[in-house]
Amino acid sequence: MSAFPATRLRRLRRTSGLRDLVRETRLDLDDFVMPLFVCCGQGVARPLEGLPAIAQLSVDELLREADECASLGISAVLLFGIPEEKDEEASGAYDDDGIVQRALRALRERFPELVLLTDVCLCEYTSHGHCGVIRDGEVDNDETLELIARTAVSHAEAGADAVCPSDMMDGRVGAVRSALDDAGCEHTPIVAYSAKYASAFYGPFREAAESAPSFGDRRGYQMDPANVREALREVALDVSEGADAVMVKPALPYLDVIRAVRERFDVPVAAYNVSGEYAMVKAAAARGWLDERQAALESLTAIKRSGADLVISYWTKELAQWL
Ligand code: PBG
Repeated sequence: MSAFPATRLRRLRRTSGLRDLVRETRLDLDDFVMPLFVCCGQGVARPLEGLPAIAQLSVDELLREADECASLGISAVLLFGIPEEKDEEASGAYDDDGIVQRALRALRERFPELVLLTDVCLCEYTSHGHCGVIRDGEVDNDETLELIARTAVSHAEAGADAVCPSDMMDGRVGAVRSALDDAGCEHTPIVAYSAKYASAFYGPFREAAESAPSFGDRRGYQMDPANVREALREVALDVSEGADAVMVKPALPYLDVIRAVRERFDVPVAAYNVSGEYAMVKAAAARGWLDERQAALESLTAIKRSGADLVISYWTKELAQWL
C-alpha cells in the first residue's frame, strides 16, 4: 500500500453513497431473532421495568405480538415461559400442557412460516431458580440431563422448529439429540448455548423470566468470563454431541469469543445480545445520554462484524422498523 498523500482513506468516507458502497458488514433482518416471554392467563401484557418495550404476554397477547413481528418481516422468535407454579423438579418445563408447549401449539397453527425457537432450561420452572435439580446443595448434572432432554422433546412435539438448550450441563446436547431421535424428532435442530458465561448482564432477564437463583449463583455451571480457550472446548464438545449451531452469550463483552468460534468451526454461530446489553443503552437513551438507534445499530453491527451469523436481540422489532 502506498502511503500518504497517494493514499487518503478519507476519500471513500466523503459521502454516504460512497460509504454504502464499501461497507463490509450489513444488518439483514433475516439474521435476527426476537425473544418473547409467555405467561399464563388471558389478556395479560405485563411490561418489564428492566426491559423497556418488552412484556410478559399471555398466549392470546403473544399471538398478537407474533402477528406484529411477522408483518414487520421478522422471521424467527425465541420463546421463554413463565409458569404459574414452580417446583423442585421443574415439572412445568416438560409438561405437555406447560406454558411454552401451549404457546407453541397456538403459534404453530397460526404462523406456519414463523421460525419458532425455544429456550430449553429449567431455571424458570424450579422453585429455587437454578438451571437443574439440586442434590446436596448443588445442581446435579446427570439427573438434570434427563429433564432437559424431556423438555426439548416436549417442545419439538408441540411445534418448535429448533430447541436451544441453555442450562450448561455437561453432556446435554448429546442427551437432547438422542431423546429427540428416539421420539422421532430427528429433523429438529439443536442450537446450543455452548459458550454461555456466568454474566452480570442477565440481570434484567431474571426479572422478566422470574428466574433469579434463590441461593448461590450459576458459576458452578456457566462459564468463567475470563476464559476463551475453554469456550472452544465447549463448542467442540457440543458439535461432537450433535449441535447443529452454537451460541456465544452474552455478545458485546465477548466479541473475541465469537470471533474465535467463527474461525475455528464451520457450524452457524449465534450470538445473544442479552438483556443487560439492551437495558444499558435503553437507560442511557432515556436520560438523553446517547442516541438509542445509533447505539443499537452500532452494537448489532459489531456483533455481526465479529463473526456471528445470527443474533438474538431485544432490538429485533425496532430493528425491523429502522432498516
Ligand atoms: C436461561 C437463560 C438465561 C438467559 C437466557 N436463557 C438466564 C440465565 O442463565 O440466568 C439470559 C438472557 C438475557 O439476559 O437476555 N438459563
